Amino acid sequence: MRNNPAEVALKIAEKFRRSAAMAAQEGILPYKSADGKWITSPYDGNSWWTGGFWPGLMWQLYCQTKDEQFRAEALRSEAMLTDELRVFRYLNHDVGFMYLLSSGANYKLTGDKQAEQDTLHAANLLMGRYSPVGYIRAWNEKHKMGYAIIDCMMNLSLLFRATRMTEDPRFEKVARLHADMTMREFIRPNGSVAHIVEFDPATGARIGEVAGQGYALGSSWSRGQAWGLYGFTLAYLNTKDARYLKTAERIASYFAANIREDGLTDSDFCQPAGEERVDNMAGAIAACGFLELHKATGKAEYLAAAEKLLDGMIDHCCDFGDSICGILTHCTASYHDDGAGRHNNITYGDYFLVEALAKINGTDPMLWI
Ligand code: GLY
Repeated sequence: MRNNPAEVALKIAEKFRRSAAMAAQEGILPYKSADGKWITSPYDGNSWWTGGFWPGLMWQLYCQTKDEQFRAEALRSEAMLTDELRVFRYLNHDVGFMYLLSSGANYKLTGDKQAEQDTLHAANLLMGRYSPVGYIRAWNEKHKMGYAIIDCMMNLSLLFRATRMTEDPRFEKVARLHADMTMREFIRPNGSVAHIVEFDPATGARIGEVAGQGYALGSSWSRGQAWGLYGFTLAYLNTKDARYLKTAERIASYFAANIREDGLTDSDFCQPAGEERVDNMAGAIAACGFLELHKATGKAEYLAAAEKLLDGMIDHCCDFGDSICGILTHCTASYHDDGAGRHNNITYGDYFLVEALAKINGTDPMLWI
């Protein structure tokens, strides 16, 4: 890659020493930043699905630097998330994202007993969202009872982990049932993926695709493509099931063909030409997926795709100054709804950028497995 990944990782850690101290002093869980300040999640308080990325980022930086400040901040913010297990009613299928990167990371890296219990608690919540008609229910609103979404492929790792932790095969069985359903119902002939598919909650009959955070019904929301790419790669790493690897590779080919010349990622691969809507979070997630696919298959094209994305983000969209607290700019949560951020610095963009660099630099603790 053109940029030096070790040097970039060092600069990132340096900046987060300052901005982690700010978060700790304010006693908050950061979501995004602007005007030199942290901003908390736009919806559902600390139950918002992104809460795990901050402690996950702190654990990544701890593994990179062994700096005690990052470990302490990971533990401080984990406690804010485990409080949400008692609130419960806002939690949804994204307990995978939230607790794999907080209590799950803590348990993996320190063996802490309470963190082990909290991770299993979250895994049970996720398994309880599986409907016997064939899918894990994504969200809580009554009119979305039949929705399953591609993002859930990332959450399945919590179930695979829970079976390894307990030797209880039910968790893995549910993860496989959901992954098989996703392979059947979400993947289009050109290798792109739907964001949302709705089922009849009583019978499991497929109703059809629903428009989500992308440009339009039937379009290709880039972050959804990235969740599919990395999520099926993780399903393969968890099971060694070649069908999941094949699916990950199909999505990867589609994604690679849509990376912009400058290495940035459009928010939707079907957005109108000339409409400048970038989502670097999709690029950072995909870079992680490409790097794991490269490790699993040895294919040089996946390493090249990851490096193109990383160089693009580092050349054009990394801000080491004081106007934002994090690093990665041009992160867009949703194509049409700016409520959660458009062209902002958002914590999960930083998380996946740091994870991708850690994979290259050999410090990634692989918190998803
Ligand atoms: N998992 C929700 C999102 O990617 O916005």
